[in-house]
Amino acid sequence: MDLTTSYLGLKLKNPIIVSSSPLTASAEKAQALEAAGVAAVVVNSIFEEQIRDETSQMDEALAADGSSEAYDYLRANIAMRLGPEKYIDDIRAIKETTSIPVIASINCISADNWVSFARKIEAAGADALELNLYDIPQDPNETSNAVEERHLKLVSAIRAEIDLPIAVKLSPYYTNLLNFAHRLDKIGINGIVMFNRFLQPDIDIESETLRHAANLSREQDLRLPLRWVAILRNHLRCDIAINSGIHNAEGVIKGMLAGANVAYLCSALYHNRDHAALINGIINNISGWMQRKNYPNLAAFHSKMCELSTDSCKGFERAHYVKILTSQK
Ligand SMILES: Cc1cc2nc3c(=O)[nH]c(=O)nc-3n(C[C@H](O)[C@H](O)[C@H](O)COP(=O)(O)O)c2cc1C
Repeated sequence: MDLTTSYLGLKLKNPIIVSSSPLTASAEKAQALEAAGVAAVVVNSIFEEQIRDETSQMDEALAADGSSEAYDYLRANIAMRLGPEKYIDDIRAIKETTSIPVIASINCISADNWVSFARKIEAAGADALELNLYDIPQDPNETSNAVEERHLKLVSAIRAEIDLPIAVKLSPYYTNLLNFAHRLDKIGINGIVMFNRFLQPDIDIESETLRHAANLSREQDLRLPLRWVAILRNHLRCDIAINSGIHNAEGVIKGMLAGANVAYLCSALYHNRDHAALINGIINNISGWMQRKNYPNLAAFHSKMCELSTDSCKGFERAHYVKILTSQK
């Protein structure tokens, strides 16, 4: 079976990409993932605070929090990656020691610090850049429109600055995701990643302190991105990466039927540390399914179940909600 595909204009041997996380934070880790069979990696994000040279404050705040998972999430290997130069070195090292496409990732909420840094990432040899719009607005006076405008301004500024393909990684928390994604698409980005999973702090009721744990997904979490990929597919020109809840071949196939070009994995690789066995199993099971269905390549079933292709039409939108609720006893 032919599992080759393309994403952001990059040729991929299969649709499996490891998403930005500590799993991709060094050349050694990227090499191991390449050997395990993944088609590309998105490097651990560099955070805006690192660019603003606020690493020491952030480091202290996280250390005081005492939670290794929170630490991991926000700044993998913090001691190793103080500052932007280290990030550029990492990108260069990953590029030099692997032959799969390497996508750099920056977590940004404002345009001020990122534009020139994006140029450095391009010069370091990254194949593409992912903008991780991880943002929890804090100002009660900032309207949703202002938040979106801020994000669009940032993406436009970086688009104008570099020639690299750009993907934008979104959260699902937009009032009208379709409108926002559409406006992003018009800027000329090359891909949208749906969705990031935010760190969700918990409360320890004995110590009455915050407890942070990595917010690993489960298989059923796939339904949220699945719906949105299916709804957005035919409204966008750019590629779509499905992310959140991809744990097996079935998840990848569902994502592609809905209209995703590739599938990003993260939690599955934390749950199963035998990465080669996991990736091999996924690839073999996709091939087996394609063989049974007589699909010679991914294009043969891509987008088959996206919103405007389903017989029921609007199956991913509201109509089925009513049907399901009224059929529940
Ligand atoms: C420990 C950990 C660290 C992460 N770090 C980043 C990061 O630096 N940048 C980013 O865009 N996403 C980060 N993520 C989010 C993942 O890339 C991914 O979008 C999310 O976990 C959903 O995919 P999954 O269901 O396969 O886990 C992190 C996730 C985890 C669990």
